[in-house]
Amino acid sequence: MRIFITGGAGFIGSALIRHLISATEHEVLNLDKLTYAGNLESLTCIATDTRYEFVQADIADQATVSAVLKRFQPHAIMHLAAESHVDRSIDGPAQFIQTNIVGTYALLEATRAYWLSLPDDERAAFRFHHISTDEVYGDLHGIDDLFTESTPYAPSSPYSASKAASDHLVRAWQRTYGLPVLITNCSNNYGPYHFPEKLIPLVILNALAGKPLPVYGNGLQVRDWLFVEDHARALLKVVTEGTVGETFNIGGHNEQKNIDVVRSICALLEELAPNRPQGVEHYADLITFVQDRPGHDLRYAIDASKIERELGWVPEETFASGLRKTVQWYLDNLEWCQRVQDGSYQGQRLGTNNFKDLIA
Ligand SMILES: NC(=O)c1ccc[n+]([C@@H]2O[C@H](COP(=O)([O-])OP(=O)(O)OC[C@H]3O[C@@H](n4cnc5c(N)ncnc54)[C@H](O)[C@@H]3O)[C@@H](O)[C@H]2O)c1
Repeated sequence: MRIFITGGAGFIGSALIRHLISATEHEVLNLDKLTYAGNLESLTCIATDTRYEFVQADIADQATVSAVLKRFQPHAIMHLAAESHVDRSIDGPAQFIQTNIVGTYALLEATRAYWLSLPDDERAAFRFHHISTDEVYGDLHGIDDLFTESTPYAPSSPYSASKAASDHLVRAWQRTYGLPVLITNCSNNYGPYHFPEKLIPLVILNALAGKPLPVYGNGLQVRDWLFVEDHARALLKVVTEGTVGETFNIGGHNEQKNIDVVRSICALLEELAPNRPQGVEHYADLITFVQDRPGHDLRYAIDASKIERELGWVPEETFASGLRKTVQWYLDNLEWCQRVQDGSYQGQRLGTNNFKDLIA
């Protein structure tokens, strides 16, 4: 297959592309705007493969997207490009509306025109796979409740509301125009190459630097964690085997309280990085509770039984094994982290970013 991926320089997109190039024969075109979250250094290991191509463009630029689609002639589109950080959406929602809603609309329109131009058999086989989040469902209150594919949408943040809107657009493009779509809603991902503004890499790098480990509120918020490479495998299953029009929840059966995640990272660092920064007796001493995020959802947990039953996908990593791999990866790749932290991963392309403020 020729697969057109948006947002492939981001955390999940780059894991997906590394998987596609290293474990399959598919060809990949990665269209990415390279915002602060896009990092081509996450793709260095496959960048020179003849089955991989990169185009820097905005999904909202319909003319450019149309031209790239016409040239590349994909059999499937996997749409991951988005603004994805909840805190940033609270500070400045405009870019989330622009990329996640207007951008998805422009991509759908470019896709529809391309899809209509295909011969009948190729049109029938074509797939548009929209990658979304479990945050569209809002939060859970009952201790045993789980998000299923029919849980009503109740997003809480500008980020999750913009993702919910994009899901609705994708469903409407199927219902109204017949575009063959698939949607996946996934829980929190973690793993290698995660941008260090997100909880797990932030805690690892702050701990190594002897900086406070910020935990929102009382730290009792529960998230369902999935190792990013398990997500990549699930996405490939869905785009190649999923029935058109279906939604699949993807999760790792790994519900953890935020505070327990932070404590687990500290315990792993005690073992894997015993040379603590000067003045730090135990990494866990750096844990600092900070004012809670407005609208913070208490609990997310995914019922992933449909994808297990229908497509035979199950995660390969437990939280313990995935977290150990992740901590070890950061310890082995401090240079990658350094280049993100000092902004040099963006070279001269985009100037400075405000990431350093977030971990200061
Ligand atoms: N990270 C998670 O835990 C998680 C969980 C479930 C679903 N998701 C969804 O998966 C997708 C990928 O998430 P991620 O964590 O890899 O995000 P990310 O922020 O790491 O990467 C997003 C990528 O999209 C690119 N991008 C942003 N705006 C663009 C635009 N207008 N045009 C083209 N490219 C643009 C960025 O440059 C970046 O490479 C998102 O749609 C997100 O909502 C993420």
